[in-house]
Amino acid sequence: MSLSERIKRLAGLTDEPGRPRARVLAVAAQKGGVGKTTTAVNLSVALARFANQRTLLVDLDGQGHVATSLASVYEDGSPVSMSDVLLGHGRDLLEIIHPTRIDLLSVTPSDKGLASAEGVLAGRIGKEFLLRGALRKARERFDVIVLDCPPNLGNLTLNALMASDACLVPCDMSILAMAGVADLLAVVDTLRDRLDHQVQVLGILPTRVDRRNARVTDAVLEGLAETYGELVLSTHIPVSSALARAQMEGIPVFDYDASATGSVAYRALSEEVLTRLGVGAALPS
Ligand SMILES: Nc1ncnc2c1ncn2[C@@H]1O[C@H](COP(=O)(O)OP(=O)(O)OP(=O)(O)O)[C@@H](O)[C@H]1O
Ligand SMILES: [Mg+2]
Repeated sequence: MSLSERIKRLAGLTDEPGRPRARVLAVAAQKGGVGKTTTAVNLSVALARFANQRTLLVDLDGQGHVATSLASVYEDGSPVSMSDVLLGHGRDLLEIIHPTRIDLLSVTPSDKGLASAEGVLAGRIGKEFLLRGALRKARERFDVIVLDCPPNLGNLTLNALMASDACLVPCDMSILAMAGVADLLAVVDTLRDRLDHQVQVLGILPTRVDRRNARVTDAVLEGLAETYGELVLSTHIPVSSALARAQMEGIPVFDYDASATGSVAYRALSEEVLTRLGVGAALPS
């Protein structure tokens, strides 16, 4: 038995057949500001609202932007925080699930302690498996769990990838974001080779696609297509002021303006994600 199998067994992480299991999807990118949170939030809302998926959105970024983005639909839950769960203070992730006013959507918020959790986790044995263990019970209660990652490839992102079946990588129209995609995919390869954990790269999501800046946009889209081929999603997220405005108001973009280009794109993304996850193609309209 490999070392990683032994660690998993000791931590009680081996899968038990017959149990219902949510698909876990990490929204991760090394570069900041590429639309990870906007994607995690609006994708989660679309999965719950348009596809009837019981969805849990987990904020793994100490900036707490998921709670800000959904402030108006958020309902208070327990004061236990994500860092209590990850740092093993005897807390279960189920304790920090907040319901929202959107049917079928729940959220686990982050806390400022998550930033220092990065450093504390560094010294823990089996540190990459903590979130995976914490999500075990939640996987029985939801259909899809979406993880919003911080903008780096540190321990929290590693935990997210180790807890995930698949990852979705937003990439804005910049060379820096493209370089970040390569770094993230190298980490996915390392997890497969060293920790025997296979994360499906669900796709690279072009974000902030700006037709008014055609030269740069075309160059980045061509570069992504040449390097990653079918891994690039056919859904593109355009620059859409409705996305930023909805975030400021603490509501999903669909409630701000259902016909905005950002709304249409995120609804299409939810369909493509479900198809790529193999969950189901046709969504109720
Ligand atoms: N397609 C878009 N069109 C216009 N504005 C956008 C778009 N996507 C994101 N934004 C805005 O850009 C800012 C950054 O987006 P977001 O918070 O989703 O990025 P992030 O990758 O999660 O950032 P961080 O790395 O800090 O976590 C936000 O103000 C958001 O409203
Ligand atoms: Mg974010």
